[in-house]
Formats: sequence, C-alpha cells, structure tokens
Amino acid sequence: MTTPRLEIRNLRKAFAGREVVSDVSLSVLPGQVTCLLGPSGCGKSTTLRIIAGVESQDSGSIHVDGQLVCDGLVSIPPESRSIGLMFQDFALFPHLSVTQNVAFGLHGAKKANTDRVSELLAKVGMSRHADAYPHELSGGEQQRVALARALAPKPRIMLMDEPFSGLDDRLRDDIRDETLEVLKEEGTAVLLVTHEPGEAMRMADEIALMRGGVVVQRGAPYNIYNAPADREAAGFFSDINVIPSEVQGALIDTPFGQFLAPGFPDGSAVDIVIRPQHLKIDFDRGGRGPNPTPAEGTAARGIVRRARFMGAESLVEFVMDYDGSVLKAQIPSVFLPNPGTPLWIMIRRDRCFVFPRN
Ligand SMILES: Nc1ncnc2c1ncn2[C@@H]1O[C@H](COP(=O)(O)OP(=O)(O)OP(=O)(O)O)[C@@H](O)[C@H]1O
Ligand SMILES: [Mg+2]
Repeated sequence: MTTPRLEIRNLRKAFAGREVVSDVSLSVLPGQVTCLLGPSGCGKSTTLRIIAGVESQDSGSIHVDGQLVCDGLVSIPPESRSIGLMFQDFALFPHLSVTQNVAFGLHGAKKANTDRVSELLAKVGMSRHADAYPHELSGGEQQRVALARALAPKPRIMLMDEPFSGLDDRLRDDIRDETLEVLKEEGTAVLLVTHEPGEAMRMADEIALMRGGVVVQRGAPYNIYNAPADREAAGFFSDINVIPSEVQGALIDTPFGQFLAPGFPDGSAVDIVIRPQHLKIDFDRGGRGPNPTPAEGTAARGIVRRARFMGAESLVEFVMDYDGSVLKAQIPSVFLPNPGTPLWIMIRRDRCFVFPRN
C-alpha cells in the first residue's frame, strides 16, 4: 500500500475552551487532491493552519511520508515541513518582478533556479510576463504567478485555502482546471479548503466533508453526492426535498407509494430525502394524472406556486394537495409552467435517501 503523503490523526484544537477541531483524521496520497469542504466556521482553516505549522494542536499527530512532523511533543518548524501554501489573500511581493517572485523561495544554484522558474512560468502560461510587476497583471495572472511561486521549491504538499475565491466565475473555472493540471503534473499532494461543493466536486479526488469540527464523511465526489451520510450531508450539495414519514413493517407508506425501509424498527420517524432533479412531473389529464409505474411509483398532485427559468433548467415549486407541503423540482427549461397549474409529481425511488429523523 502507498504511504500517504500527508496523514493526520485525531487532531484536536480548542480556542478559549471551545473546541473548533474535534478529532479530525484524514490522509492524502501523492498526486491526489483532497478537499476539506464544509460551512463557514466548521474548522477548515484551523485544520490547515495546524498542518502548515502556524498553529499548534492540543492533541493528534501529523505525518508526512510516514515521518512524524508534529504531535504533542515533537514539532518541526513550518519552513522545514516541505509544505507550500496558497491562501485567498496570497500576496505577491509588489516590488519584485514575476521571475523574482517565483524565485523567491529557491536557494539552490543560480542556473537550476533559473531553469525551475522558466519551467514553472511555462506551465502556468506566464512566460511572456516574466519581467512584469504584479500591479501590471490581472487577478487571474497574479493567481498563476502565486501558484508558480508556491510550487517552485517542489513542496511535497500544497495547502490551499479558498485560493480561487477572489476571482470571477468564468475565470475561476479556467484557473481551477489549469491549476489542477499543474498540480497533477508536479505530483504534489493537495489539501484544498473550500466551502463551495461545486468547487470540491470539480477539483477533488476525495472530499472530506466537515461540520462542527468533525469530518462527517469522506469519499470520492460521486459517492459523497450519491450516498450522503445524513440529511445535512445531502443538503450541503444541493437543494433537497424532505418527506417526513413513519416506518411500519419495514415499509414506508407515502403519497408517492411504498418505500422499503429495511432495518428500521416499527414506528420510527424517518425523512425521505430527494434532490429536485430527481422529481418527474406529468400532466393533470383532467385530474387523473399518470398511471403508477414500477420505478417511479405513484404520482401525487400539486399546484405550481412559482416557476423560475434558470437557463438550462427551470426550478418549479409545488404546493402538494395531500398536505400543503412544498416540493421543488428541477426540470428541463423547455417547460416553464404558470403558477396555479395543477401537475403530477413522481419521485425516482432509486434516487431517494431514507434517514432516521434527528
Ligand atoms: N485564533 C483564534 N482564536 C479564537 N478563535 C478562533 C481562532 N481561529 C479560529 N477561531 C474560531 O474557530 C472557528 C473555526 O474557524 P476556521 O477559521 O477554522 O473556520 P473555517 O471553516 O475556515 O470557516 P470559513 O469557511 O468561514 O473560512 C471559528 O468559530 C473561529 O471564530
Ligand atoms: Mg477559512
């Protein structure tokens, strides 16, 4: 088995008696990108700062390539950890040229340094700006230089804290993809902090979903999205619909037909959770609606409350006849029903999650 480039075990940190990192464990393999994803204040940056060595943990250990970097007793200073940093407010040195900025952290022979700087500027597409000064560059160009500078000393690990949040949307997508390509080429292990699920899914080989100082789920983006650990984890990645229900005889009876609930005791309260894109809508047909199908089950009627055109899709909110609750559907934008229209909704049962109610 490959030794993880970075391995963190049972990290804890409290500020003034309040624990903000509680028992965080994770590992990153060489050439892999792990995203630490979670809402504001959940302890992402604190975790990163401890790994970088600018903050110290109360307990837990960090290993790089199997070697102890810090625990309660030992602590290697930040500059000896072979860790590159890139933060949101990455500052290039304003009085140094692009070349000088990238060369800043290099201590080897002059020729080797010059070669490394040229190599990196070519990789990030900034060769023709080699002699420019930071104020002469756009935000995206500065970002590229910052990446080259962080990679110049060939760090074994790159820690990135919301490094793309200062860029506008379109540029951000391009820079993310380019950055990822360069990082993969360099074989660096990356731990990237973000609170944006889209960014995490786009960049990560593995996502560590964090909440309240704890990693609640770890896995490939596909698995985390399609098999969330709980209702909150499901809701972190998209809008969700929640259908509160009760289990009887390992079955749940709902207006959308029966659901299997193996392992749930009789009478337990559960939430059926489904993302808006997994609702299917059909016409009223004079109040009859569609026939039940084996995959989609029974349809239930609702009245359109609001419909928004979003470009590729429409977001439609329904008030359901059966109890007045609201369900949201995401449907192709060729269809934009008027408020007040009665329509029938089916839910894809293979796309539902059943969670015990909190
Ligand atoms: N040096 C500090 N002293 C006291 N409290 C701190 C310190 N650093 C962080 N905290 C607190 O710890 C909690 C976690 O902060 P942290 O910066 O790790 O969150 P985050 O997940 O990075 O959030 P965001 O997405 O907003 O950047 C916050 O409540 C913050 O106020
Ligand atoms: Mg932060």
